[in-house]
Amino acid sequence: MILNLLLDLLDLKGWLVVFCVLLIVVDIVKNKDPPNYPPGPWPLPVVGNVFTGVDFKTMDKLAEVYGDVYSLRWGSEKTVFISGYKMVKEALVTQLDSFADRPIVPLFHKVFKGIGIALSNGSMWKVQKKFANAHLRHFGEGKKTLELHIQQECHYLCEAFKEEQGEPFDPQYTLCSATANVIYSVVFGRRFEYSDEQFQNILRADAEAVILSGTAQAQLYNAFPGLFHYLPGPHQTVHSNYQIFKDFLRQQILKHVEDRDPSDPRDYVDVFLGEMEKSTNEEAGFNLENLIVCTLDMAEAGTETVATTMRWALYFMMKYPEMQQKVQAEIDNVIGQSRFPNMTDRPKLHYTEAVIHETQRLGNVVPLGFPKMASKDTTLAGYFIPKGTAITANLSSVLHDKSQWETPDVFNPEHFLDSEGHFRRRDAFFPFSAGKRVCLGEQLSRMELFLLFASLLQRFTFSAVPGVELSLEGVLGFTYSPPPHKICAKPR
Ligand code: HEM
Repeated sequence: MILNLLLDLLDLKGWLVVFCVLLIVVDIVKNKDPPNYPPGPWPLPVVGNVFTGVDFKTMDKLAEVYGDVYSLRWGSEKTVFISGYKMVKEALVTQLDSFADRPIVPLFHKVFKGIGIALSNGSMWKVQKKFANAHLRHFGEGKKTLELHIQQECHYLCEAFKEEQGEPFDPQYTLCSATANVIYSVVFGRRFEYSDEQFQNILRADAEAVILSGTAQAQLYNAFPGLFHYLPGPHQTVHSNYQIFKDFLRQQILKHVEDRDPSDPRDYVDVFLGEMEKSTNEEAGFNLENLIVCTLDMAEAGTETVATTMRWALYFMMKYPEMQQKVQAEIDNVIGQSRFPNMTDRPKLHYTEAVIHETQRLGNVVPLGFPKMASKDTTLAGYFIPKGTAITANLSSVLHDKSQWETPDVFNPEHFLDSEGHFRRRDAFFPFSAGKRVCLGEQLSRMELFLLFASLLQRFTFSAVPGVELSLEGVLGFTYSPPPHKICAKPR
């Protein structure tokens, strides 16, 4: 009866209005925030804050308006953003267990499937991170194997730079080749020639995926995966590139299955294959699919991040030649020219260490870290964050925090030097994040950055292409990198 009356009263326009009102009411009820939830810009019905940029500069601006803890919503997906040294430390370090889980990020879930190390949770994550850590330590500290692998790669890298004969060239793929080889030496016990075509294809596919995952369109996939799954766009390239990468890793692993000697494990893959035979705990994830994703986690995170940091390092040296000279003078004084740098030199190279740290601070390679999730109902800065809410710790805001750094926006190695010119650590140095989800490769990266940087500066003087101005405005993908550029590497 009422329906008949309504049908008589409403025309098409009227029905459209009713439909929209209903949609908004359902949206409001469905996405209602719990009491005392962190504030944020007003979300549009249904789509939420999809028109708000996801870059760290927008995040900084929002923090100025809404404070160090605020929220955004894309579609129905809510994320709480945490900014500034004090609050990020409170969330990741003081409340150690509150934000240790990973949420499902649709763009990556299709590839990583919630297994491996970087995007897994619970006991699988605990076991696999510990296992990989122990392996990195076994081949690193004490054993010296890792240092030797890196030194060997320094040699190949210097040779490749020398071949350019001081002419301008883009160092991106050469640096990625070197950093990929370091991680491949740990994982697969081998390196690849820089000219190896398959190797170069993998590096290109990875670099493209890293850039594309940061685009606004790829982020839209995260808000509406069901819809975008069928549409063309960068998310499709991200997925197909990761598939190419995974196929390559599977191929390397299967070679190991064929030619390994169980009594003499050569590398991470051999040790993992041995564990697959022993392990009875299915949840721990000692199986082939998980091995592929674990190696992807390390190869992915361990190549681009270190190479991009090295690109920033050389970029800053070209931009500030007087600092480059100071680094070279220190290296000449402590090491000389007759041998490659080694780890025992590090404590003596104060200024060089300060330059590397300042590069990581201002280079700010992973500005928003990886997304995390509240593992339990939590209170932060007086706000209530329910279990399961995605959170992003804005590492960039820590590395630029005015209360922690004397000149936050200026490249200034003095940040890491005391009054006697000795290297000093800083509390707000968070490029590897902090707490339970801290980067697995922190120690390896620090060793690698030191040996690569000191070896290059020992052998070359870097300068920009004459007439080219070096802008400090970087390019944001999943990582933050210097703008595309060429360098001239003049042998010393
Ligand atoms: C300069 C180089 C690097 C930087 C700046 C960097 C930075 C980061 C950051 C910010 C995170 C996110 C931590 C979080 O969620 O709070 C992370 C995680 C991770 N990184 Fe790195 N990383 C670097 C090198 C490496 C290397 C060489 C490896 C190879 C072993 C690696 C493997 C990982 C893994 C597996 C995770 C996930 C850890 C977890 O979920 O528990 N990273 N890294």
